[in-house]
Amino acid sequence: MSFEYTEITDPLYVQSREQNREEDYIMVRRKECKDVPISIPNWKPSAHCFTTRFHQYEKDLLEAEVYSDDVWVASYPKSGTTWCQEMVWLICNNLNFNEARAESLRTRFPFLEVSLIHDTQISSFERVQKTKRPRFIKTHLPVSMLPKSYWSVKPKTVYIRRNPKSVAVSYYHHSRGIFYRGSMESFVRSFMRDHQFYSPYHAHVIEYHALTGCDNVLHLSYEEMKRDLPSVVSKVCQFFGKSYTEPELQRLYEHLSFASMKENKACNYEDHNAPSKDHGCFIRKGELDSWREELTPDLIDLLDRWTVKSAPTDAERKLFE
Ligand code: A3P
Repeated sequence: MSFEYTEITDPLYVQSREQNREEDYIMVRRKECKDVPISIPNWKPSAHCFTTRFHQYEKDLLEAEVYSDDVWVASYPKSGTTWCQEMVWLICNNLNFNEARAESLRTRFPFLEVSLIHDTQISSFERVQKTKRPRFIKTHLPVSMLPKSYWSVKPKTVYIRRNPKSVAVSYYHHSRGIFYRGSMESFVRSFMRDHQFYSPYHAHVIEYHALTGCDNVLHLSYEEMKRDLPSVVSKVCQFFGKSYTEPELQRLYEHLSFASMKENKACNYEDHNAPSKDHGCFIRKGELDSWREELTPDLIDLLDRWTVKSAPTDAERKLFE
């Protein structure tokens, strides 16, 4: 077995799982991971939170084929993945707005490991395998769990991060819309104890930023997309060797605006069994710091202290501003 599984016995999780209808989570750790080129001294892969479904897909995940013309978007959940995917897809597809509006992002840019999260008609790994090349692949997998051949092929990858307070709030609303029945406070506390899908959050972000010799990875943040979309678009165009005229770019900015994406059925995921309107939509509020109104001062303080503890160096801490 390539992975090690540890039951979560933390009494807070055990108690809240019943009350809040949380999933049956389990911590999963890749046992050996020599293939990841990382600069963290004595690095060992962290255990990440998944469900027991993971067992079933171990092999599909590790042995998934990776091609050099793949384009990957990776992130911790709720970091602006959908927004980033739409931008990347359009930039790589000659700004084909018609196709972008006609076909769901789910089809254009399949989610590699969604079968680990919920039942799917066919395994998402199989679906991605059958996708016409060049493939566009979304993943929330931490570096230690990427398919083995990712590291020899090194396909172009965009990693997007977002500050932990926004992620916590956005993840809470997302989970409320699907299964979670607890309060914001319970959710945030469990997020800080790494008991939400894909956690630990900080390790996820830090590890992607500590990769060495991976000029196939472009790092972006939700915050820079919000503050200066044109400069992010310019970076992404350069990364993919694309260039567009000013009027074309203006159209792209408009297409990627919050208002436009919110009413765009091809990327707001309302075409599927979308989560409830008041919580779960992927394109919900789209603000830089709505956490200021949504989190209590105590939770803000706890989240800040958690970041200081989890990101010991100044360089690491900068990733979470
Ligand atoms: P909020 O819940 O804070 O509104 P992901 O795609 O990784 O699940 O991230 C979802 C978050 O990205 C949501 O944050 C969503 O509103 C935000 N988002 C999606 N499209 C956006 C856009 N065009 N502009 C700003 N934020 C956007």
